[in-house]
Amino acid sequence: MTPSSPYHDEDRARQAVVDVVMELYDARLITSTGGNVSVRLADGDVLITPTRMHKGGLTPDSLVRVSPHGEPRPGQGRPSSETPLHLAVYHARPDVHAVVHTHAPHAIMLGLLEGRVPPIIADALPFESLPIVYYVLPGDREGIARIVQSLGAQGSAVLLKHHGLLTVGRDLRRAVNVTFALEEVLHILTLCRIWGCTEPPTLPSDDAATLRRLDIV
Ligand code: 13P
Repeated sequence: MTPSSPYHDEDRARQAVVDVVMELYDARLITSTGGNVSVRLADGDVLITPTRMHKGGLTPDSLVRVSPHGEPRPGQGRPSSETPLHLAVYHARPDVHAVVHTHAPHAIMLGLLEGRVPPIIADALPFESLPIVYYVLPGDREGIARIVQSLGAQGSAVLLKHHGLLTVGRDLRRAVNVTFALEEVLHILTLCRIWGCTEPPTLPSDDAATLRRLDIV
C-alpha cells in the first residue's frame, strides 16, 4: 500500500522543513541561495521554500504553501523557482512526500565527471546506478520529464549535471538521509584519491548482495 503523507499538521511541517534546511545549510549542502526543500501535506498541498531567499535565515512563516498545481495560497510569498520540478515528482510518485534539492559539492563534481559510485561501503550500494540528468534551467519541462523518468517507480536520487542533486523520500528524514549518505560516500572516495588510491577495493559481491537483500541501506 502507498504510504500517505505524514504531514497532517501544517505548523509542525513548516518547522520540520526549516530544521532540515538549517541542517543542510550548516553542512554546506544548501547554499545561501542554492537549493530548495518541500513536503506534501496530507491534503495534497505542498509546502516549499521561498525563491531567492537566504536559506540560512528561513523561518516557518517564510515557507510558501501552494496548491497541487503550484498556485500559491492566498497570503503566501513567492515559491521556489523549482516548484514545477517538486510538483512533477509528487505527481509521478504517490509514495513520495518530501523532495530535497541541494547544491552538494561532491555530487556536483560526480555529475560533471559522469562518474560512478563503486560499492566501497554499504551506504554506497543504493548509488551504483545513480542516474545523471542534464538540468540547469529551473522549470525546464524536458529536463523535469527526464528527471521524473530517471527516478522511476522506486528511485531516491538523481544527479543534476552542472547543477546539484535531487533526493526524495516518504518523509523528510528519509530524503535527507539519502543526500547525506551519497555526499559522505563521495567524500570517502575523494579521500581515497588524495591518499593515492584511484581504484579503491570494493565490497565482496556476495556480501553486497546480502546487504541489498536485507534492505538495510
Ligand atoms: P530558488 O531560490 O528559486 O529555490 O532557486 C534555488 C535553486 O537552487 C535553483 O535550482
